[in-house]
Amino acid sequence: MDLHDFEDVCENYDLYLDAMYKNEDIHSGFQEFYLDFAKEYGEQGVIDIACGTGAVLIYLAEHGIIADGTDISEAMCRVAGEKAKEKGFDLNIFPANMTEFKSDRKYSCAIIARSGFMHLLTSELQRDALLNIRENLVDGGMLTFNTFDPHPIFQAEQMKTKDTDYSLRLEYTNKQGMREKIYNAISYDPYTQIMSGNWKFETLDESGAIIGERVRPLKMRQTYRQEMKYLLELTGYEIVNVYGGYHKESGEGSAKNVIWCVRKK
Ligand SMILES: C[S@@+](CC[C@H](N)C(=O)[O-])C[C@H]1O[C@@H](n2cnc3c(N)ncnc32)[C@H](O)[C@@H]1O
Repeated sequence: MDLHDFEDVCENYDLYLDAMYKNEDIHSGFQEFYLDFAKEYGEQGVIDIACGTGAVLIYLAEHGIIADGTDISEAMCRVAGEKAKEKGFDLNIFPANMTEFKSDRKYSCAIIARSGFMHLLTSELQRDALLNIRENLVDGGMLTFNTFDPHPIFQAEQMKTKDTDYSLRLEYTNKQGMREKIYNAISYDPYTQIMSGNWKFETLDESGAIIGERVRPLKMRQTYRQEMKYLLELTGYEIVNVYGGYHKESGEGSAKNVIWCVRKK
């Protein structure tokens, strides 16, 4: 079971993400980046894959681009749909696995925002998703997604961590108005390239005493660039741009967040 499959997590996702990215945001500028991408390539339709609670989907709608959305989690789709409706948008949002969804139309632009692709934990699943998305694109259609470069220094640290070695990540106020502390413990397996995390949520009462606790697992896979280049070649894509961040930083060298922009061949 994934962190994002849980009802309570999806209800609070936007709230704790805002708190998490307040000081250090590896995804800084993501909405503007995807809006530009959709404007440039989305003339024949845009799909936001692994759309979560709609951070990109709804931003696009607010800027005049009505995209479809899909996510493996029904709960995330429901929250995205409700948020869209509140803002007056009636969007087509459907639950599906990116490795096998089939839309009744094809798109010229597909977006997998903010690490959605990293939830695919093997290169076989990555291949299946790339092939399937290709089927849903028009000829010459564009896809963008991001990966984290395996980083030896971080990994060395994370290889020492057990999945119960928690450190405090953030504090925020949940949808019910209760304070929550979130701790995480992330370990790394260099053989599978998987980061395995446990996220512990502590709910506090007014005096700061802990009145509830839940632990959610989360796994994400890091991908070497050489690996991704071959995977893209083998699944029928041409690499158009590789950036080192959403402000279109250079993708050369050791960028941590690698943004791929690729075209269906
Ligand atoms: C890190 S969140 C990003 C959500 C959203 N793109 C955003 O920017 O807020 C990743 C999302 O990927 C979804 N997801 C994970 N595996 C998936 C899969 N195989 N197919 C479709 N969605 C998936 C999760 O349910 C989650 O909502």
